[in-house]
Amino acid sequence: MAEKQLWSGRFAEGPSEATLSFTSSLSVDTRLAWYDIAGSLAHAIMLGETGIIGKDESEVLAKGLKQLLTDLESGELDFSTELEDVHTNVEHILTQRVGEAGKRLHTARSRNDQVSTDFRMFVRDAVLEIVTLLLEVQNVLIARAEKETGTIMPGFTHLQHAQPVSLGFHLLAHVFRLQRDAERFLDAYKRLNQCPLGAGALAGTGHPVDRELTSALLGFDRPTDNAMDTVSDRDFALEFAYDCAQAMVHLSSMGEELVLWTSPEFRFAEMPDAFATGSSIMPQKKNPDVAELVRGRSSLAIGNLMQLLTVMKGLPLSYNRDLQEDKGSVFSSYETLSTCLFMIGPMYRDLDFNRERMAQACADGFLNATDLADHLVRRGMPFRQAHEVVGAAVQHCVKKGKRLESLTVKELKGFSELLDKESLEYISLDACLRRRTSAGGTAPERVEEQLVSAKAIMGSHRAECEGEVARLYEVWEDLRK
Ligand code: ARG
Repeated sequence: MAEKQLWSGRFAEGPSEATLSFTSSLSVDTRLAWYDIAGSLAHAIMLGETGIIGKDESEVLAKGLKQLLTDLESGELDFSTELEDVHTNVEHILTQRVGEAGKRLHTARSRNDQVSTDFRMFVRDAVLEIVTLLLEVQNVLIARAEKETGTIMPGFTHLQHAQPVSLGFHLLAHVFRLQRDAERFLDAYKRLNQCPLGAGALAGTGHPVDRELTSALLGFDRPTDNAMDTVSDRDFALEFAYDCAQAMVHLSSMGEELVLWTSPEFRFAEMPDAFATGSSIMPQKKNPDVAELVRGRSSLAIGNLMQLLTVMKGLPLSYNRDLQEDKGSVFSSYETLSTCLFMIGPMYRDLDFNRERMAQACADGFLNATDLADHLVRRGMPFRQAHEVVGAAVQHCVKKGKRLESLTVKELKGFSELLDKESLEYISLDACLRRRTSAGGTAPERVEEQLVSAKAIMGSHRAECEGEVARLYEVWEDLRK
């Protein structure tokens, strides 16, 4: 028998099969079931506390909803596809189980404030999980960077050899990128953690609701301010989608780097077998597929952000059904980022760096050319002139197949009288690396400082995240008492 819709009273006939299936969001929003039941539980308690419904009815509802949570957790809750979404299903099942009291649950509530509440609670958990995963990846990178502060490798610009850097310094660059990602997520968290319940359909409610109470019961910082804004607002989803896209762009860059580094042209690293796959035809192949897929899946996160922005851009206030199209992208971005973070940490942990090859690669590309120019500057030559002089020396080396440090003193003198034997010591690659002692530079002692500050920031992100996880744990314990 067809299930009755929540709004059947207005209609002489039910919706067509096609309309029902077209408008249904159950396949997507089933994922919000736990949050929907928890949100309903807080709402039911508040209805009883304020006397909007009887205490006894509130208790019946609360008991029924707690049981729904338990059943959902043990996989014993089945939703009917004939009902349009998860919210309708929860209310329907509850009413079937507890009878008349179930019909009072939706007092002073609309699906518009309800959806937003559920969705915010989902994004809240997603943020905490992603920050935790981001911290794990940073930990791996830090542990590897600590051992490589003296490992010399070419630093690149335009993918051309530029100046010598340490591998530790290079790995730390990734850490600081991910650190900003974590910070962005935690910052978004502050704005999203406000409770929509009580906003109603768009204008608030005439019932004497206690919005502070539902907000507190669900672990929100406070209720939202303006009911109309509240039911229209998906900024929290957009921010989350942006933060995911931004983090995926960082991971994609790391993936690309691993594809390059493990190629026979670079040979800077060997991909652990566990993160590679073979070819169906070429027996010799070992392909960096995980790294490639991380790079490839960033497209999803970017596309998801565009999808959501596009849904939002032309909507008048307040709730419009288009808003139902807000969840798929967010779920997809969350899954994409969390699975990529899950893979990329262990991949970096087990990566086999080829230090010898990195050192060899430093022989090419005149990584010390800037230092030779700086050396002339120290001896009084204006930098622009020194740049010309060294440029000419490089041109000479290219013709002769030489390196700058293998030029004879006589050859050097031909470029500038200011150059001598000491100049050659000045441009040894090791000296070039150690000299870059400006704050944030690649010199080992500066990298040590960066390690310290990276760890300090990670510590504060971890404390913030763990504190919030523990707080929410208590919130749920209290709610289900
Ligand atoms: N499934 C819908 C959504 O996700 C529920 C809201 C429907 N609200 C309404 N006013 N028709 O947005």
